[in-house]
Amino acid sequence: MPEFEGTHGFPRPADDLAPVALGRWGPFLFASLEPDVPFETLVAEMDKRAGHLPLAEARFDPSRSRDYLVRANWALYCDNYLEGFHLPYVHAGLATALDYGRYRTELFPWSSLQVGIASGGGDLLDLPASSPDHGQAVAAYYFWLFPSTMVNVYPWASR
Ligand SMILES: [Fe+2]
Repeated sequence: MPEFEGTHGFPRPADDLAPVALGRWGPFLFASLEPDVPFETLVAEMDKRAGHLPLAEARFDPSRSRDYLVRANWALYCDNYLEGFHLPYVHAGLATALDYGRYRTELFPWSSLQVGIASGGGDLLDLPASSPDHGQAVAAYYFWLFPSTMVNVYPWASR
C-alpha cells in the first residue's frame, strides 16, 4: 500500500489472518473455524463407503446445477433429509426403484448413512470387495455430515 512505509508496529502477529482447519474429500474442500472433531473423523464412514469412487475425476457441471431458495429453518431441511418415511408419498419414482422395506439408516457419532437397496434390476453402485456393502444391491447412499452437509451417491446421477 502506498505511503505505508512509516507505519509503526505493523505487521504484528495479531494482524495475521487466523488459520482455518481445512480438509479435502475428493474435489470438495471443507473449512471449519472451530472443528469439534478432526476432519478425517467426520468423513471416515463416507470415505469407507464411497472413497473408492474416482473423486479426483469429478468435475462441476454448471448445466446440471440447481439452486433452490427454501424458506425454512436449515435444521428442518436436515430433518426432512434424514427421515425416509416420506419417500413413498413424495418420491414415487424413487420409491419404486428402492426396496422400502430394506431401506436402512446407519448412525455414527458425527454422521449418518441412509442406504437405498434396489427393488430389483436398475442401476447399482459398483462396490469393491473391500466395501462393507459388497454383494448388496445398493442403488444409493445418502450421507449426512453434522451439522448440514449432505452427499448423495448414486449411479444414475452421471446421466
Ligand atoms: Fe425428499
